[in-house]
Amino acid sequence: MGKDASELLNRVDDLPPLPAVAAKVMSMAEDDKTSAMDLAGVLATDQALTAKLIRISNSAYYGFARRISTVREAVVMLGFKQVRQVSVGASMMNAFKRNGVDDGFDLDLFWGHSVAVAVASEALARKTLGAKPEDAFTAGILHDIGRLVLRQVMPQEFARAVAIARSGDLPLHDAEFETTGYQHDEIGQALGERWKFPGHLVDAVRCHHDGSLTAAADGLAGVVSQSNQLMLHYGLFCGYDMDIGEVPVLSTELEQVETACGGIDRVLAKAFSFIESASGTPDKWYAKAS
Ligand SMILES: [Fe+2]
Ligand SMILES: [Fe+2]
Repeated sequence: MGKDASELLNRVDDLPPLPAVAAKVMSMAEDDKTSAMDLAGVLATDQALTAKLIRISNSAYYGFARRISTVREAVVMLGFKQVRQVSVGASMMNAFKRNGVDDGFDLDLFWGHSVAVAVASEALARKTLGAKPEDAFTAGILHDIGRLVLRQVMPQEFARAVAIARSGDLPLHDAEFETTGYQHDEIGQALGERWKFPGHLVDAVRCHHDGSLTAAADGLAGVVSQSNQLMLHYGLFCGYDMDIGEVPVLSTELEQVETACGGIDRVLAKAFSFIESASGTPDKWYAKAS
């Protein structure tokens, strides 16, 4: 256990709030036609988000032949759950601003990792029936978000951790713990609770470094943990890039995870397409993936 993550959040004056529309959309029930049109109504109040949603709907992320031009059409074509997961994901990507500090940590690569984990988690959940696919996507986007808080609150210690990770001595989550005393999974849990995300989603964020969890046995937490492991295996680190040389052979378990996700290339292509539509072409993208 790291230092008290909840107490850390109390010390942050400008902790990013969950964007209002995302909070509202998260809490909407997913049953009938009425709620689908309610959803369209809520989304339409945020023009920037609407524009992103329409861009994503028309991108290679979905690959529809037909052009979608309104939120209502997106809801009809994609369905309530898809639209909700995409809007929450896209608005979360804007909750944390670039800080302009050169600490070796790259926000584009952070989102690259997080969205790739989200895409893989969604596919894995769909295949294994281990969790609801839309929960899996949202938990994937959210899983490392505690790291952004840590970076904001303890910039110097965080920069030291990034340097250690980039030198290959320790994975970032261990280096961070060493330099800050905090664990980003626990901070993510505390933030998720503040943002009032459902409990099982917050649990998945807290447990995402538990390598013993599996999609088959542990539901959402296993789905996110295994997807995270798969991305790290391929050198898609969270917030930095590093030459890992030849990608090591996958364990049988991770090989099954990759197959269930439809292959690493497909996951990365979808993730890139989502990021491009949600926030523009990233300045950096993983060397391994290009
Ligand atoms: Fe993590
Ligand atoms: Fe991660």
